[in-house]
Amino acid sequence: THRRYRLDINGEMVAFDLAPDTPLLYVLRNDCGLNGPKFGCGLGECGACVVLVDGRAVRACATKIGTLEGRSVTTLEGLATDGRPHPVQQAFVEMQAAQCGYCLNGMIMATVALLTRNPKASEAEIRQALSRQLCRCGTHMEILAAVRRARD
Ligand code: FES
Repeated sequence: THRRYRLDINGEMVAFDLAPDTPLLYVLRNDCGLNGPKFGCGLGECGACVVLVDGRAVRACATKIGTLEGRSVTTLEGLATDGRPHPVQQAFVEMQAAQCGYCLNGMIMATVALLTRNPKASEAEIRQALSRQLCRCGTHMEILAAVRRARD
């Protein structure tokens, strides 16, 4: 059965009538047209779908809408301010951290979550925060360089 859920998505209150086990990723991509969060594995394993819920990085494919009433969700699309990229986005562009780019939504969102709670994150803390964000192209060195640039 469907229920009504209200949540803040990128600063706007939105209401949905959905089954409680609907994955947040489907709501964002299908109902909101927000394609920043990517569908990779759909199983909570790859990190391509990461968004912020109340500032913490979560896997949208493995988060049910029924757990999110009244919560605040930020997607990649919600990071820019006044049409300017977020400093983490800017750093990823400057370090040319993308190859195919599919993982970068998750890399960027996980980095924003990390640097918000720990602006002076050590190399080990950066690696730990990104350890479950998978990249199959192998641009890990550029990605780490981008995170360091955003931090410094
Ligand atoms: Fe969500 Fe892979 S698509 S973790």
